[in-house]
Amino acid sequence: MQYPLEDLVEAKRLEEQVHQINYSLIDELNHFHFEKNEYVLDAGCGTGVLSRHLVNHFGIRNIDSFDFSDMRIEQGRRLLNQHEKAAIHFYRQDLNQIDPQFHQKYDTVICRYVVEYASDPLHLITELKKTLKPGGRLIIIELDGVFVNLYSANHRLNEYLKELKQTLPFDLEIGRKIPSLMKEAGFMSLEWDATLLSCKGKALEEEYQNNVIRFSAVGNRIASLLGSLERGEEFRKLYLEEMKKDTSTSVFTKYICIGFNR
Ligand SMILES: C[S@@+](CC[C@H](N)C(=O)[O-])C[C@H]1O[C@@H](n2cnc3c(N)ncnc32)[C@H](O)[C@@H]1O
Repeated sequence: MQYPLEDLVEAKRLEEQVHQINYSLIDELNHFHFEKNEYVLDAGCGTGVLSRHLVNHFGIRNIDSFDFSDMRIEQGRRLLNQHEKAAIHFYRQDLNQIDPQFHQKYDTVICRYVVEYASDPLHLITELKKTLKPGGRLIIIELDGVFVNLYSANHRLNEYLKELKQTLPFDLEIGRKIPSLMKEAGFMSLEWDATLLSCKGKALEEEYQNNVIRFSAVGNRIASLLGSLERGEEFRKLYLEEMKKDTSTSVFTKYICIGFNR
């Protein structure tokens, strides 16, 4: 499946999101230790914001960054400064079929907010495993319930959300499935942490803006899943109105999972 958010606005969103309260890269990687000379793969790198963070915060010198989107890779290359250029190497790679030249190359593979788009998540995780050295680790960071966990007293909005959950071509409840998928793929010493994030105050404003952008990028797609432009527009309006209410309860869970290759 093609990644559904494929434009310049989305690139800007990916760059800005890491500074938002509920999507902070610093918090996500806080507890991990990296050796400066280890080989790291940023799998599904987008604009490379994680790769740059690994260079600038952890001093890592060998990072390969894969994405199947030419546009993302182009944007990613343009964002690198001289120092980052020496450490980060972008490759156009489909994670469903990674070139064997990258097999057993990495000490750490990090895959952040990507598995939700996979049509066969187990296959994708098994492909990632092939790229690890024996004893290497896979870190998967995924969300669960983002966008769809919005309670509303409005019956129509709830019905739209229910309908979308069943038809969206990506899995917005993937987070909870990652530990089982990693186990099935053969990873050992699995550990994971799940944090419930509520959208309140500044985090709610940030999520509201994220959703405005999500609607502008995939509004037509949502409308076609709901059957007409009118239904799509009504859903957008009801959804954004709900987020503005003082009773709005938008919450999601962030899973950070780690497993080791035998
Ligand atoms: C939500 S973005 C996350 C980007 C980045 N990991 C980050 O944290 O900012 C998902 C990215 O995964 C890429 N992607 C999705 N499926 C992929 C696949 N099968 N192979 C390679 N890249 C993929 C998309 O092109 C997109 O850039």
